[in-house]
This record gives sequence, C-alpha cells and structure tokens, in this order.
Amino acid sequence: MTEKLWWQTGIVYQVYPRSFQDSTGDGVGDLTGITSRLAYLQWLGVTAVWISPCFRSPMADHGYDVSDYRDIDPLFGVLADFDNLLAEAHRLGLKVILDFVPNHTSEQHPWFLESKSSRDNPKRDWYIWHDPKPDGSPPNNWLANFGGIAWEWDETTQQYYYHAFLKEQPDLNWRNPAVRQAMFDNLRFWLDRGVDGFRVDVMNSIIKDDQFRDNPPNPGWKPGDHPYLEYIPAFTLDRPEVQDVVTAMRAVFDEYDERVIIGEIYLPIERLVRYYGENGDGAHLPFNFQLVIKPWEAAPVRDSIRRYYAAIPPGGWPNWVLGNHDRPRIASRAGREQARVAAMALLTLWGTPTIYQGDELGMEDVPIPLDKIQDPQGLNIDPSRSRDPERTPMQWDASPNAGFTTAPEPWLPVASDYRDYNVEQEREDPKSFLTLHRRLIDLRQSEPALNAGSLAQLDTDGDLVAYERADGGTRFLVALNLGAGPASLPLDGRRGQITLTTHLDRLGDDVSGALELRGDEGVIVRLS
Ligand code: NOJ
Repeated sequence: MTEKLWWQTGIVYQVYPRSFQDSTGDGVGDLTGITSRLAYLQWLGVTAVWISPCFRSPMADHGYDVSDYRDIDPLFGVLADFDNLLAEAHRLGLKVILDFVPNHTSEQHPWFLESKSSRDNPKRDWYIWHDPKPDGSPPNNWLANFGGIAWEWDETTQQYYYHAFLKEQPDLNWRNPAVRQAMFDNLRFWLDRGVDGFRVDVMNSIIKDDQFRDNPPNPGWKPGDHPYLEYIPAFTLDRPEVQDVVTAMRAVFDEYDERVIIGEIYLPIERLVRYYGENGDGAHLPFNFQLVIKPWEAAPVRDSIRRYYAAIPPGGWPNWVLGNHDRPRIASRAGREQARVAAMALLTLWGTPTIYQGDELGMEDVPIPLDKIQDPQGLNIDPSRSRDPERTPMQWDASPNAGFTTAPEPWLPVASDYRDYNVEQEREDPKSFLTLHRRLIDLRQSEPALNAGSLAQLDTDGDLVAYERADGGTRFLVALNLGAGPASLPLDGRRGQITLTTHLDRLGDDVSGALELRGDEGVIVRLS
C-alpha cells in the first residue's frame, strides 16, 4: 500500500457549499462554515473534501456559471477565507479538491461580455458563434440540458451562440488555443495556492462537432422523458478530439506533485474508460457513476462490477460514486435499509469511493414546495426534474434548522426528520447510519486488503452480490443482500469471523458452510 498515492487509498467527501454550514446567518452555507466543520470530516475519517463551485458567479446554476475563476463569490466569503480553509484542512491532514467548470462560463464573465460586444472583438472566437440558417432559425437541432434549443440569438451581432446548459452559461470554444491557455492558467492559480486537485465538470462535453452536424433522433425517447434526450448527443458529447484537451489538461496537473484530476463523465463504461487516456495521460479518476445511474438491484450491480473492472486499462485506478448534488439520494432511491448495504458496497469495493454530504447520515430527498424551487432544471423543465431535494441543508443537530443556519429560513428547507437523522444524535447511537459509516471507513483505512487490495467477484445470483478482497495473506469476504428476504451464500470451504454487518451486530460470530444473511443485510467476514 505504501507506494499508492493519497487519491488511490483515500476517500473523497463531496461538500455542496450552499448547504454544508452557514456562518453568517444569511441562510446559505459558506467557506468559513465549511472550515468550522472540517474537524467532523477528520473524525469521520475521509481523506479529501471536494467542494462544488464557490467561485464568483451570478448563480444562475448555483455556481456552475462562473464569472471569475480566480475569486470566491461574496456569498461564500473572500479569498482569505479560502486560504484559511485550505490551511486548516491541511493542518488536519485533509486534502482539498475544487470544482473546475471548463465547458462554459457565466454570460457575465468578462470574456463573454467582450465576445458578444462585436463580431471583430479579439475574444469573439472564445465562444461558439454561428450564423442562422437562411430562414433565420438556429444552425442545427442541438438541445440544451436544461430545456429548449441550445442556441441563443444575439441581437447586437446577429449570430447565435451555443450553450449546452442555460443561456446564461455560454460554451467556451476549446478549439481555440488561447482559451486553453487562459483556462489552464486559471487552474494553475489554485494549484499554486496548494489545492490538491480538481473535479472537472462535464469533461466529455468540452469539444463539439466542428461541422455542426445535427444530432440523430433518439428512437427510444418518448414524451415525458427528459427533453434533452430526444436526440442522441452524438455530435455534442464525447467527440474524439476531446481526448487531446483532456491530455493537455492533465499535463497541467503533472506540473505539480500528486495533484488529482477527476472527470465528471456520464457515459457507458466502455466509453468512460477512454478518459484514463491512451497512455494513462488522461484523468486520474474518470468518475464511475454506475451505482448512481443503475437501479439498486443485484443483477445490474453485479454486472457493473464485472464490466467496470474488466474495462479499466492497465495502470488505471478505479473509483465508485453513490450520490451527488445532481441525482436523487441513495436513501430515497433504495430505501434506508438498502442504503446501508449500498454504503457497505461503496466502502468495500476496489477503487476510490466518493461520499456525498449527508448520505453518511441516511439523509433522504426533501420534498420542496413548488414556490420554493430554486434549481433551473426544475424551473425550466418540470418540477419533478428539480435537483433541490438532494441539495437541502446538512443536518448537524436537533436545534432549529438542524444547526445549519441561524437564519429564520435556510435557502432550501431542512428535512422534517432532521431531529432523528443528524450528526450529534447519530454519533451517540451505536446502530446509526453514521456509526456504520465510521466503522466502514475505519475498517477500509486500516485494512490494506479492503483498501487497495485485489478484488475477486463471486458468482452469485438472486439478490446476492459478493466479492473477496485480499492483500498478502489477509482476505475478506463481502456479502451484500440487496433483497428484503433472507439469503444464503454457500462458502465453498471458506470460513472466518464476522468483522462488520450493516446491522452492526453479530460481530465476532464464526461462519462456515454457508453465510446466512437477513433481508437488507451486508456482512464483512475476515476469512481464516
Ligand atoms: C454538472 C454539475 O454537476 C451540475 O450541477 C451542473 O448543473 C452542470 N454540470 C452544468 O455545469
């Protein structure tokens, strides 16, 4: 294990800064709030904190619309607050990963203001401008992720500009070398300050077809599906030339010691793994969203595990994600009982795990009244598409607003069951979600076999998922029952002692012959 890097042996914890901790009483989380809670993350045992965008932004997409890549938004604090956060994290032995949004800027970014000022402005070609069709309509059928056509008409200069998300998020033209250099310098600004890495937003979207060909219709699409999926994004996503950009971006990280580049990429496994780079010169961790996008059922989970490990190129390091600020929470998708089983999977599979804030408490999606919806996806497309439910405030204690803010009303409502599910309460409860997470993390970080050890999947059926982890002479069996009824796993001559169960009982029990699992139970056995 000694020769592995921190992001290989470590655990990433995602903080959504609006909802982690408010220190100013305005109802929105901020950097000083995060700093005040770093000791909790150290206690939990995670290695790195990834902070979703905290840069200057008009907040059309809650920070994923950056108007200054080198400054902190006043809502979150000032640059000095960030420096404090970083220093305190490093003092506590925690790494800090920031969020880089290269695909698009805010429409308020000075570059875009210049670009749209006239057709002969030197920054015109920093964004993607196109003439209309002869009848004045948009150049092609490309759709925006947040609804409608991805082209916005600019009256002043009589051209359309392309935006993969909101019209307030114009896409940069990464075919322009000047854009690359300027954006890479923005990365260096933070890497020079000591930031330990970046998660790169929609990494596979940075380059679009230079011939602007129409996307083909999606034969599987039907009304009621996400409108963006009506066409297959063949010419707007995962273009072959994007690999050059990823390689060039990775080279910036290689100018420094041990920094990590993580790519946000929603693609089928076989296409995802190309982002490791042909010669291992791509992203260190192309985010693996298999457990986020597939239903939490044994057959797809078994299939994902098998196919993912088989697809990883030599030298590539795996990773697993269970939730984030864009997708319904695992406790809501799978139910609270199964969310414990899913946590055991996340923290015992081979590869760097990423935990989304609050999932360690068993937080569920929070229903948001229609008049309180904040997310542009919910506002523009359909309330059911809103990502607000998974972005509600972190639940720290049983005091008003869960200890998140002293404001009368936080920016999104706090879950109604926060008095039962919060850090203070769960810390003291030997059977809580949080206790389970802490035990899982502790075990993973103290047992090389469960950390960077090898993984061999067992051939199981029904509701069972099982694998063995090994390092030297130490072997663990992990058995997960994804069903509500009991299940029995033949041990084929293996025997050992139970080290941990999702119910946090049966510890030390001897097992041989077959491992009997209760419904919704996961078990870790130290094999002898
Ligand atoms: C992915 C981010 O996670 C999401 O929150 C954001 O809306 C889009 N990229 C656009 O930046």
